[in-house]
Order: sequence, then C-alpha cells, then structure tokens
Amino acid sequence: MQNFKLNEQDLLSNQDWTFPTFTAYGPGRFKEIGTFCKNFKITNPLIVIDSGSTKLPFISDLQNLLSDAKIKSNIYSNISPNPRDDEIDGGCKVFKEGNHDAIIAIGGGSAMDGGKAISLTVNSGIPLWDFEFLDKVPRDLKGTNPFPKLITIPTTAGTGAETEITAMVTDTKKGMKFCLWHPEARPCLALVDPELTLKLPANLTAWTGIDAMIHAIEGYSVPLFHPLCDGSALESLNLISKSLYLAVEEPDSLVARGGMIVGSYLGGVAFLKGLGLVHAISHMVGAEYNTHHGLTNAIILPAVMEYNLPDLEEKVKRMSEAMQFTDHSVDGFKNNLNQMLDRLKIPNGLNEIGVPEDCYERIAKKSMLDQAYGQNPKKATLDEVKELTLKSIKKAR
Ligand SMILES: NC(=O)c1ccc[n+]([C@@H]2O[C@H](COP(=O)([O-])OP(=O)(O)OC[C@H]3O[C@@H](n4cnc5c(N)ncnc54)[C@H](O)[C@@H]3O)[C@@H](O)[C@H]2O)c1
Ligand SMILES: [Fe+2]
Repeated sequence: MQNFKLNEQDLLSNQDWTFPTFTAYGPGRFKEIGTFCKNFKITNPLIVIDSGSTKLPFISDLQNLLSDAKIKSNIYSNISPNPRDDEIDGGCKVFKEGNHDAIIAIGGGSAMDGGKAISLTVNSGIPLWDFEFLDKVPRDLKGTNPFPKLITIPTTAGTGAETEITAMVTDTKKGMKFCLWHPEARPCLALVDPELTLKLPANLTAWTGIDAMIHAIEGYSVPLFHPLCDGSALESLNLISKSLYLAVEEPDSLVARGGMIVGSYLGGVAFLKGLGLVHAISHMVGAEYNTHHGLTNAIILPAVMEYNLPDLEEKVKRMSEAMQFTDHSVDGFKNNLNQMLDRLKIPNGLNEIGVPEDCYERIAKKSMLDQAYGQNPKKATLDEVKELTLKSIKKAR
C-alpha cells in the first residue's frame, strides 16, 4: 500500500472558505413551502421554471400549496436548457410588472440558474454581465434590498445549483456561456425533497446523475486546499456510486432518489472550489448547440480523464475508494468510469448528439475563456484543448 504525505504547504498557509445556504432536506418537505415563505415574509413570489416543465405536476402542486397558505404567485417559464440573457431580461420584466417580492426557482439547473440570474439583476439595477465571475463583481450595491429573496428547489439530481448563487447564462451576442454570481447574494433556502425526482425519466436521471458525479470528480481534482469541498466530493461520490444505477433501473426507489439528490447537493458544494476541462468544453458546446449539459459532460468525460488523471494518482486512489472500486489505479478508475457510461447508454461522441466535427477549433478557443479552464489540474495548451474537443466529438472512449 502506498503512503502519501501530509501537504505542509496547504496546512501551513492561510485560507478563506465559504459554505452554502440553509437547507431543508427530506421526502415530503416540499409541502412545507407555504410555512417557509411565511417565515421569510415572502408574500408574492415569482415562480421561475424552464419551458419544458410547464405540465409537470409539481408546478401546479407548488401553486396550490402557496395558495393554501394565502400566498399570491405567478409563473415565468421562458427559460431554455441553456438559459439565455434575453430570457433573463424577460423574467425581470415579469417580476417588476407583477410587483413580486421573491423568486422560487424550481426545476433542473436551467430553471434554478434562470431564477438566480433574475434575482441578481432585477432589483440591483446592475446589468447582468457585470456579475460575470471572471470580472470584478460590482460592490456598490444600492438600496436596502438589492437581491430579492430566493428559494431554490431542485427536481433533477443533478446540478447542485440549489446550493449557491452561481448561474450559467448564455451571452447571445458572443455565443458563449458564462458564470454569474455575487458574494453577497445567496438563496435563503434550498428545499431538497427527493420525492420531486421520482418521475424523472431514466435518460435524464442518468445524464443529470453523471453531471453530479463529474462535479465531485472535477471539484476534487482542482489543486486548491479546501477540505470542506473535498470531504463533500468524496461523500458525493460514495452516495452516487451506491444510488445511480438503482435510481435509473428502479425509478420508484425513494432511497436511491435520496442518495442521488444528496450526492448531487454535495457535488454542488464540491465545485465551490472549481471545475475543469470537462465543464469548460461542455459550456461552449451547450451555448452553441443547446445540448443537454449532463449528457454533454458525460460524453466529454473520458477524453479529459485520459488527459488529467495520470498526474492525480493519490486523488484517484481516494476517489476509487469512495466509489467502492476494487482497482485503485488510474487505469482502473478510467475503466470503471467507461463501464458506467456504457451501462448508462451514453453515446461515444458529441457527433451523435448533433455537434459537427468542423466546430472543434472554435469551441476549443472559446473553452479557454471559461473560468473552469483555468481551474483544471493541468494547464492545457490550445492544441491540447483542440485535440480533446475533436476527440470528444469523434470518439471519446
Ligand atoms: N449553477 C450551477 O451550479 C450549475 C451546475 C451545473 C449545471 N448548471 C446548469 O444547469 C443546466 C442543466 O440542468 P439539468 O441537468 O438539471 O437539466 P434541465 O434543467 O435542462 O432539465 C432537463 C429537463 O428535465 C425536465 N425535468 C426537470 N425535473 C423533472 C422531473 N422531476 N421530472 C420530469 N422532468 C423533469 C425539465 O423540464 C427539462 O426539460 C444547464 O444550463 C447547466 O449549465 C448549473
Ligand atoms: Fe455540471
């Protein structure tokens, strides 16, 4: 057995850590939404959902629960799988016209990101793109309530987007997807109820589940000292490895759905530390071709793992242990991930989901402007990113 040394440089340096929002977890907790709104003095929330969710039962359930608690509400549903800046503008207009005092963002990552982006800009009056993660975020906030109260409710498992204010939005002028945030904005509540995911179809359960796993893998691989995130990453991998097949193959298993939604939540915490090249490439593919985020990531994963993992021997060992793999070597880890992708019927290349081969140079250049590019454990050159992108399009595993 190999012995790895304590990292003196990490343990003897100063660090700043943040941790996420108040969270209510448990099967059936959704029914408490009226009480939570009253506790937070919310009287007229705007419910933000994605355009594919209008007919899903939990949306009418939410309106009924609010109305039972004598709380007015309205719905904004013009959010696409990769939320666009013009859709955020539309949501702000509806928020103002309806005199809303809060946002309930319910659904997958797209609905939650849409709601979060609206909450950043609607009251503060600060233009949306001033919140871009890489830029210096605006500090001179006007008024006493620059950000309306925000409740996040995930219904996929998932993006972990419920844990923080960060929102991925497509800049329609640039055809690129960027991360928005503000350090003083954050949901007042993440309401995490596994019952909401019971009807998530098998393909979306697999795609969003793999996204959650990749958050843990990429977050854990970021070379920063953040033990809160790292502990979350390993527990996320532990839960996901025990729950994902079960959630796909026995969709009514509430225990598996619980394992997945908590695993996803912890994956969201893990990537407070950062992400990596899987997400950098995937964000730009999503911005141009509106592909599903989790599926796109799942296809890109093997190519990036082949590139990143050889230098991450100790981390691979710990991730393998967390996932109950018997082979703790780098090759063993890659093989286990590939077997998982096969079993979950993930296509072999992005060309199978409508991404043409000739876009690879453009996508690679854009990926290098994504914040996740700089967080990758290995500094990739443009040629290397081009190669990884082309491989992901043609044959990633
Ligand atoms: N902010 C973050 O931290 C973060 C992290 C990862 C991903 N994201 C973003 O999240 C988005 C992807 O989110 P996603 O993977 O959850 O997919 P999604 O939000 O696009 O949802 C996919 C589909 O699932 C449907 N759906 C959602 N819940 C359902 C349920 N319980 N039953 C049946 N159908 C349901 C939706 O209507 C939608 O059609 C991307 O835009 C991505 O960039 C954000
Ligand atoms: Fe993701």
